[in-house]
Amino acid sequence: MCGIVGFVGNEDCVDMLIDGLSKLEYRGYDSAGIAVMDNKQIEVRKSKGRLADLTAKMEKEGRLKGTCGIGHTRWATHGEPSDINSHPHGNKRISIVHNGIIENYRDLKAFLIDQGYSFVSETDTEVVAKLLDYYYDGNPVDTIAKVIGEIRGSYALGILFRDFPDKIYAIRKDSPLIIGIAKNGNFIASDVPAILKYTKEYYLLEANEIATLTKDSVSVCDIHKNPIEKELNVADWDLDAAEKGGYEHFMLKEINEQPTAIKTTIAPRISEGMPYLEESGMTKEMLKGYNRIYIVACGTAMHAGLIGKYVIEKLAKVEVTVDIASEFRYRNPIITDKDLVILISQSGETADTLAALHLAKENGATTMSVVNVKGSSIARGSDIVVYTHAGPEISVASTKAYAVQLSIMYLLAFELAYAKEAISEEECRRLTKELQEIPDKIQDILVLKERCQFIASRLVNAESLLYIGRGLDYALSMEGSLKLKEISYIHSESYAAGELKHGTISLITEDMPVIAIATQENLFEKTLSNIKEVKSRGAKVTVICREGTKDDKTFANHLVTLPNMDDLMMPMLALVPMQYIAYYTAVLKGCDVDKPRNLAKSVTVE
Ligand code: G6P
Repeated sequence: MCGIVGFVGNEDCVDMLIDGLSKLEYRGYDSAGIAVMDNKQIEVRKSKGRLADLTAKMEKEGRLKGTCGIGHTRWATHGEPSDINSHPHGNKRISIVHNGIIENYRDLKAFLIDQGYSFVSETDTEVVAKLLDYYYDGNPVDTIAKVIGEIRGSYALGILFRDFPDKIYAIRKDSPLIIGIAKNGNFIASDVPAILKYTKEYYLLEANEIATLTKDSVSVCDIHKNPIEKELNVADWDLDAAEKGGYEHFMLKEINEQPTAIKTTIAPRISEGMPYLEESGMTKEMLKGYNRIYIVACGTAMHAGLIGKYVIEKLAKVEVTVDIASEFRYRNPIITDKDLVILISQSGETADTLAALHLAKENGATTMSVVNVKGSSIARGSDIVVYTHAGPEISVASTKAYAVQLSIMYLLAFELAYAKEAISEEECRRLTKELQEIPDKIQDILVLKERCQFIASRLVNAESLLYIGRGLDYALSMEGSLKLKEISYIHSESYAAGELKHGTISLITEDMPVIAIATQENLFEKTLSNIKEVKSRGAKVTVICREGTKDDKTFANHLVTLPNMDDLMMPMLALVPMQYIAYYTAVLKGCDVDKPRNLAKSVTVE
């Protein structure tokens, strides 16, 4: 989604804005722009396309200069990607960048047109810019407060007023914005990677707090101008974590970072060989007291929830309902104060997941979030937070965040099962130990990349693909299928292997490759029958299974074998070849792996 960067300080801001925006490219965008205060005038450059298009345009139209400016990468919602619809919006005296959606922009636009304003873009943002202009009375904070009283929706705004040439104003609600405190000046940004090169210190802006930044001060107040003391946060991510570090793509780097990410995530949650989630505030007593568990999330995070459901139900014998957040909100779920609602989110800012959190809270449920970004909206809004420690995930296609979300699902299942006496202490220790072995096992199977590269070369010309599996393998195959389609643009579908013959098998021809995940020992024979059904109808089948699986020479065209572990743990290994297959297929197709078309990393609109 849109990215915001602003800087006011002692040095020229243009390169810093472009550099900061480049660190937010991962969020997804289709146009970019900057506004810089130059000699008490606001100068704007904006362009459809990538940042390179913006810099090329600056070369043509004249480079901007100044020590106070705001920048934006836009992911189109209202109006197509175009120069006109790009941010910043405004006029000669006010310029703004915006992330979020103004829900009542139509009414406000009609009102402003009645007042004599005209509009050049199709965006909701231009309405905010004109509304600021309409209410402007010489006092930026008063003006912003009035506008906030009128607009409905989500927003993070960076604002320049020509009359206050050395200041940036900022406000947010339901869209992220941080304030970076650096030696040479101060920043606003959508996310920490944008400022890491200059500082690790930042404030988190709460809903409707108005910030005023100068080169050497930051003041924050509420809409009634009461000053607010902010607590300084220090990012524990370093710059290297947000750089490619010699890898061709962030996705490849992040796949390879999984062993460390899992180790760092589980280490603080294991005490003397037993799961220990109590450091997050979730005691065993609390855990076993809930009537029902919901897991709510979007995309890859929702897929992690599906694995969680299988593992929790199998071990703890507690029913778990997994919901897509955008569905959960509108299906009138039965939530009571005896329920636990678990929200999983890498960014902690996904609009639908955030709304699901609010719904759960309104209904009195205990909310627990599994989140990667510290201080994000979902983390701050939850009763209990279990942070995953994956470090920054830059590639749009989620890999290491998924792996660490899974590891928390496992720990939760072990702890709950033990608390409910559904498993013995011995069994709990055994499973916890298996989980601790995962990072080394993944490290070993990272060498499968050449095998997966070869398989990718066989898939690259396919128009459509089918993933099949049973049980945990089916849950995992959904993530494999999503990975492939989001970055390689090859259509793929994931299907419960046993359900194929009820319709989907009619699609099978020799042009429809199948990827079968068959790691579950107890289901292997059944899945094998399904594999044979598709193979005998011409499909080229890649099978991901355990080492030593019998019969393995004949039933697959391509085979990927994994070390043996408990059935329950196998998804944590099988995720690697699935990620590699998607990655190399996309590379071979020449796709923009880290920034797939139309996608955004952090989806802050509904
Ligand atoms: C977007 C991303 C996905 C991600 C999903 C949920 O669609 O492209 O990779 O899984 O949002 O994001 P979250 O930050 O809530 O995990």
